[in-house]
Amino acid sequence: MLHRHPLRHAALLIPIAILAAVSSAQKADSIHYDEHTRIFRMDAADVTYAFGVNNVEELEPVYWGRAVAANDPLPAPHTMPEASSNDSAPTVTPKEYAGWGGGLYPEPALKVTFPDGNRDLVLHYVSHKINGDELIITVKDIERAVFVDLHYSIDPATGIIGRWAVIENKTSTPIMIEAAAAATWNLPRDTDYSLRYLTGRWAGEWQLQKQAILPGETVLQSKRGSTSHQNNPWFAIERGEHPDEESGDVWFGALAWSGSWRISVEQDQLQQIRVTGGFNPFDFGYKLAPGKQLETPKFFGGYSHEGIGEASRILHRFELTKVLPQGPMPKPRPVIYNSWEATEFHVDEPGQSALAEKAASIGVERFIMDDGWFGQRKDDHAGLGDWYVNKEKFPNGLKPLIDKVHSLNMDFGLWVEPEMVNPDSDLYRKHPDWVLNFPGRPRTEGRNQLVLNLARKDVRDYVYNFLDDLLSHNQIAFLKWDYNRNWSEPGWPAVAPDDQKEVYVEYTRNLYGILAELRAKHPGVEIESCASGGGRVDLGILRYTDEVWPSDNTDAFDRLRIQDGFTYAYTPEVMMAWVTDSPGWTNNRTTSVAYRFLSSMQGSLGVGANLNKWGPEDFATAKQLIEAYKGIRETVQHGSLYRLVSPRDGSETSVTESVSSDKKQAALFTFLHSSTMNYPYPRVFLRGLDPKTTYAVTSIYGRLSKDTPTSASGSYWMSHGVDVELKGDFQTAAFRFDAK
Ligand code: GLA
Repeated sequence: MLHRHPLRHAALLIPIAILAAVSSAQKADSIHYDEHTRIFRMDAADVTYAFGVNNVEELEPVYWGRAVAANDPLPAPHTMPEASSNDSAPTVTPKEYAGWGGGLYPEPALKVTFPDGNRDLVLHYVSHKINGDELIITVKDIERAVFVDLHYSIDPATGIIGRWAVIENKTSTPIMIEAAAAATWNLPRDTDYSLRYLTGRWAGEWQLQKQAILPGETVLQSKRGSTSHQNNPWFAIERGEHPDEESGDVWFGALAWSGSWRISVEQDQLQQIRVTGGFNPFDFGYKLAPGKQLETPKFFGGYSHEGIGEASRILHRFELTKVLPQGPMPKPRPVIYNSWEATEFHVDEPGQSALAEKAASIGVERFIMDDGWFGQRKDDHAGLGDWYVNKEKFPNGLKPLIDKVHSLNMDFGLWVEPEMVNPDSDLYRKHPDWVLNFPGRPRTEGRNQLVLNLARKDVRDYVYNFLDDLLSHNQIAFLKWDYNRNWSEPGWPAVAPDDQKEVYVEYTRNLYGILAELRAKHPGVEIESCASGGGRVDLGILRYTDEVWPSDNTDAFDRLRIQDGFTYAYTPEVMMAWVTDSPGWTNNRTTSVAYRFLSSMQGSLGVGANLNKWGPEDFATAKQLIEAYKGIRETVQHGSLYRLVSPRDGSETSVTESVSSDKKQAALFTFLHSSTMNYPYPRVFLRGLDPKTTYAVTSIYGRLSKDTPTSASGSYWMSHGVDVELKGDFQTAAFRFDAK
């Protein structure tokens, strides 16, 4: 029997408010087609999205933004006139999903080559179906039997639209697909837009960038085979000169794909903005045989008229209710312990048992053993691929450790890196052909490892079977699924040269397939997506995983910025955050245990410190703060996040606040990087409370100024604000507000 966790029962209580909201909103009839104007219109949650069939039978955008009245006259779409001899009608007229053909210069959504050399593709409307919250429109090339089903879904609770395409070859010869996007999003014509996006690198993920959208094209992408640290498949576009966190129009989108991807943001010669995203066309080639289909990833798009703060909250709600595998309301995440920073590869039964005892004593609910337990794994040079328990480290298998962890009332999690192999492994010696490679060419290693070609059926079966075996024979509640390098030499020599580039699609599909099958067979098992930190975080992998590892950088101060950037696109529920040792390996910075805890308590809390080095005071602080976290975690993980003061751009302070969905509780986290010139800490004004409800304030850690009332109205906390007593360097305080 799987170890039962007290959390599971508590979790049943929260979802109800949200479920009720979702089901009442679902009653609305959100998709309409007007036969006279030939306009399709989708409405939900204060958003209207409309497009139609124009005079030349192409799908043309009409409107996307704040809801307009049901009887507002949306004009029937009509091609724009030629702008000049260089800018003919097909290229200046915005399109929902353009084939490359007919003189189109912006990014096409679909580009194909036919065997006779024709590369012209012009897609015209054929028919449509409305099935509840989903609309499917079939378009077809003007001459050849290439059909595309364009799918649209609208989420009644958030107004988030999902778009994807299914391309079908009904000709009698194969066609080569060279670019296939999920969608093109078109914004209202304006010149006053700016783009936000996320960039990074290993140990420095989730840096929020901002730039004006000017004529030309900005490309966000990964050519690395997976999502990447460098760019994340999320964007937001704000309108106006001074958009801010809580006001202004914002359009945003997130692509659900964990392989190579691309999102291009263009402003064309008529100042129209288009965002096209899907498979990365770089090195892409999908040979579609007659009768076969290719389905693109999903691209989700949303709109907020209350600034980028609300845009994030909308996206968080959507992820919690519509994306995560345990939706419509996932369980709150347990407090975990992870062994990596404490023991690295040197794991063994006595060492891990001792850590488990200490972890249990501070209130940890899940103990996770990281890398080092399998094969001939002493360091990162050997062992990946050989997923048997190392007998020197665990002479009696994993059972004694797992039993010990259970006896301490925690459940057990284990690290795996299923898609990789070290050349120094039995697996590689037996199957050197299983990795991505071009025959006769060098095999570039990263961290001494190569990438198994998951597109191959034998590799897929091997990976599924060893994981199924591991989960069937051990009481494992959680897998930390790691992925520590990008692709190189992405050849697939076992298939014909023309088919080899399908690896970009089949690899990721097989990854999703394995995750889905494992979850179905082992429904109690939760999974974390880790990729040398935050290298594989996207709405695709989040359909199959319960949390992610945002960064290997666990420095509590750096994490404030990392977490800030992360929450623009992803919910704090999935944001695993460990308290590690100080000074930390990243910056050699010293911070207090409390500072490290409060930094991590803004997400899903974990401890990754070497508890063997802790003194009694550290244990006491940790125990108290873990207990306090359990009292606010539902608010932090499932509530509405307000980024009150950003840690970016050299700010000396940062503040976040989370408000529970029923507005009965708020949690406030305040940080001071460095006091200067004897200034007091800036007053903090809360947001999102019910103005008429009375809230009592209590300290989780630190103090408010002496004249702060012990309780006051939501209006008082939001308008009068609170003064926090913080002075010094790397200081912190946190408070909870509970409705009386
Ligand atoms: C990656 C992960 C770390 C840790 C190591 C183990 O770097 O991001 O958290 O699991 O691998 O080798």
